[in-house]
Amino acid sequence: ASPVVVAVDGPAGSGKSSVSRAAARELGYDFLDTGAAYRGLAWHALDAGIDLDDADAVRGLLAAFDYRVVPAPGGAHVSVGGADVTEAIREPRVTAVVSSVARVPEVRVALNDVFRRLIRETPSPGIVVEGRDITTVVAPDAQVRILLTADEEVRIARRAAELTPDQAATARQLAERDKADAKVVDFLTAADGVTTLDSTHLNFAETIQAVVDLVHDTV
Ligand code: C5P
Repeated sequence: ASPVVVAVDGPAGSGKSSVSRAAARELGYDFLDTGAAYRGLAWHALDAGIDLDDADAVRGLLAAFDYRVVPAPGGAHVSVGGADVTEAIREPRVTAVVSSVARVPEVRVALNDVFRRLIRETPSPGIVVEGRDITTVVAPDAQVRILLTADEEVRIARRAAELTPDQAATARQLAERDKADAKVVDFLTAADGVTTLDSTHLNFAETIQAVVDLVHDTV
């Protein structure tokens, strides 16, 4: 059988990364975190010292953007230009600027090419691809398409639970990042044929199970 593509979109703090990764593991599928590539480019922009509000300068980074994902036990490693940035791309300084990079249209076109190639090269049984525009732009033909949501208070509470008290402002930045991102791609309403999975009243294990069930029901 040809590899199954499972597309998962949703806002920050919906748990879509950890849910998608765990569901992929349970299904025996590969996993592609597209946000990591946007974060990799944002890291590269900071490293190069360019002005993040200068779209021309951001576009200029694309030609030499050498982004690699190397599967490893315990989670894939991400490198940019040979530097391992797996942890660096999660730093608040990267999170703070990633939306500025992601709103440049040429950036989205270039990264979408990378994502589509990775999806094409996926072996059976399949891959779970997670982001903001996977169900609509990157893989609209995916056999399973899911919009993972949760009420905003729940998303902020889940994220805040991971943080120390002095980082509580990060919860507010989460809402601001969603607002900026939502101006570029609509990940708040389900497109035609996309199943909305509302995790407001589900715990982590139940949400993973709901994704796995959707895949089993479809393929
Ligand atoms: O999912 P994550 O929070 O790691 O995504 C980081 C950022 O990458 C988002 O805030 C958004 O700006 C951008 N992104 C995007 N399209 C995607 C995935 C991520 O614009 N498919």
